[in-house]
Amino acid sequence: MYPAGAPVKPTSLIRLLPRPPVARIRRNVSSVREKVSLGRDKFVVSRQGFGCMGFDAFYFTAQKTSEADAINLVRKATSMGVTHFDTAQFYGNKGENETMLGKALSEISRGSVQIATKGGIGKNFAPDGTPKLVRSSIEASLKRLGTDYVDLFYLARIDTKVPIEDTVGELKLMVQEGKIRHIGLSEASSKTIERADSVHPIAAVQIEWSLFAREFEKEVIPMCRKLGVGIVAYSPLGKGVLAGLFKSSSDIPKGDFRTMVPRLSDKHFDENFAKVQQLVPIAEAKGCSTGQLALAWVHHQGIDVCPIPGTTSEKHLAQNVAALGVELSREEIEKLSSLFPIGSIKGGRYPPGAPTFERN
Ligand SMILES: NC(=O)c1ccc[n+]([C@@H]2O[C@H](COP(=O)([O-])OP(=O)(O)OC[C@H]3O[C@@H](n4cnc5c(N)ncnc54)[C@H](OP(=O)(O)O)[C@@H]3O)[C@@H](O)[C@H]2O)c1
Repeated sequence: MYPAGAPVKPTSLIRLLPRPPVARIRRNVSSVREKVSLGRDKFVVSRQGFGCMGFDAFYFTAQKTSEADAINLVRKATSMGVTHFDTAQFYGNKGENETMLGKALSEISRGSVQIATKGGIGKNFAPDGTPKLVRSSIEASLKRLGTDYVDLFYLARIDTKVPIEDTVGELKLMVQEGKIRHIGLSEASSKTIERADSVHPIAAVQIEWSLFAREFEKEVIPMCRKLGVGIVAYSPLGKGVLAGLFKSSSDIPKGDFRTMVPRLSDKHFDENFAKVQQLVPIAEAKGCSTGQLALAWVHHQGIDVCPIPGTTSEKHLAQNVAALGVELSREEIEKLSSLFPIGSIKGGRYPPGAPTFERN
């Protein structure tokens, strides 16, 4: 097993050179303390981020995380070299996730961490890209986070009723006002990304990307690379499945959002899990866990990619940070990719009708 606290190398800024048309192999990057620069307007973050969602949103297990425990874990992550934290306006019933993150980072020099939040979600959890709603969403996030600016604001879902140019136009104004440093999109199609980027450089697009979810590789990732847009990989552990968190659909607690994910449903879980099990001997041979192997695969997709695994556990945090020490050869990457070809995981990523990238 790759231990916690993988060897720390002197911090060096890896500059993003002209975007590769295909994924490049990452070499000699073995520490979370390495920096990556996402997007043309240079959103500089730690090589791996930290997803805060599970503390109080969507995942049932997380309801057990107290604010004090969440704050401790975020601070632990910073002590290990993680500087990039991902939250959202709608994590927690009343934005508790942002409030917690603001408190956790309050004693750290503001310039040494990057806060990324998401908004643009209106009534009944519907995407709302109206300039008025997006502005008020950011103002409210700033209050909860206790900061004058967020480093990156993502439109969480695309509102197809509002031209993306109008929404990004408002965000551009907020960049000029100093309230947000960079603009991002989540679950955006290649066309939406191109239109948005014509108004203001998009620093990063947040996509679900792992061996368990490769749908974005067809069009979205090539567009990001064509434009020089950074990629933030959410659910890089396949919502826990790649790390062996669940062995059957019945292991997912009642009320947990993952019970509604078609590829984790009774109908598809066993077939998909059998594929995941193929990672076990490969991970054993490399002396790492399946989760670390899966994270390493994401890390090796290019230095324009920053995964943001989420955890509520100190042990898992240490394992995830240590995954940066897992080096894969070109042959190993190809072997892993060939075990999970695009489309081979059965069932959708979200319940039918969800506002995913295929619908904007
Ligand atoms: N833009 C979007 O639409 C969107 C959607 C989903 C998520 N996100 C962001 O992406 C972040 C990460 O995504 P995610 O939480 O959905 O999925 P993930 O990172 O793929 O997996 C998280 C799950 O895996 C477990 N886990 C983490 N490390 C582990 C380890 N080393 N061994 C075993 N289990 C482990 C966690 O449980 P424990 O708590 O027990 O460790 C948790 O249940 C979120 O926190 C959020 O910030 C964004």
